[in-house]
Amino acid sequence: MPFIIAIDGPAASGKGTIARALAAHFGFHHLDTGLLYRATGAKGGDPVLAAQTLDAGDLARSDLRSAQAGQAASRVATIPEVRAALVDFQRRFATREPGAVLDGRDIGTVICPDAAIKLYVTASDQVRAARRAAELGADPAQMLAELQERDRRDSERATAPLKPADDAVVLDTSDLTIAEAIARAIAQVDRAR
Ligand code: C5P
Repeated sequence: MPFIIAIDGPAASGKGTIARALAAHFGFHHLDTGLLYRATGAKGGDPVLAAQTLDAGDLARSDLRSAQAGQAASRVATIPEVRAALVDFQRRFATREPGAVLDGRDIGTVICPDAAIKLYVTASDQVRAARRAAELGADPAQMLAELQERDRRDSERATAPLKPADDAVVLDTSDLTIAEAIARAIAQVDRAR
């Protein structure tokens, strides 16, 4: 049985950094599922068709990291048919040996409810805005508004809203260095192995 690590949380919480570090530490595959929604939003046209026909080229676009791509992603992510079109790919990825780390919004609740370990990574709004502003070279106040709008849309949507699974371990990274956050995540996974 492959080992599945499910990581969810709001934007700029540190979940991507932690997911990459866990995959490297344990020798597992890593899927940033946000990229699937970003690529779907960036493709244009009918979003359901876009999700159904995503290919490697769509996922490699260089403009997917922008704040605009994040907003477009969170809009198409409210469409149940878009989410349904992306389920199989994510579940198949999760069965890769010897294990997989998936990070997103609904991994522990919908995509991999039987994951061996579920982490819900979060941080205060101010800390997340400051991190994203530094990363994108943008204004922190503008980033705060952007993140809050996206989090609201992700948390309030009817299908697969952002929320911790009942059995998720919450990891608040507000006052942690990256190294500390990674060390805590590794310790949680070790406990589940
Ligand atoms: O994680 P990232 O910021 O790249 O995600 C972009 C958007 O994609 C999120 O704001 C969310 O609306 C959507 N998403 C989702 N479910 C996931 C991953 C991302 O709805 N598993």
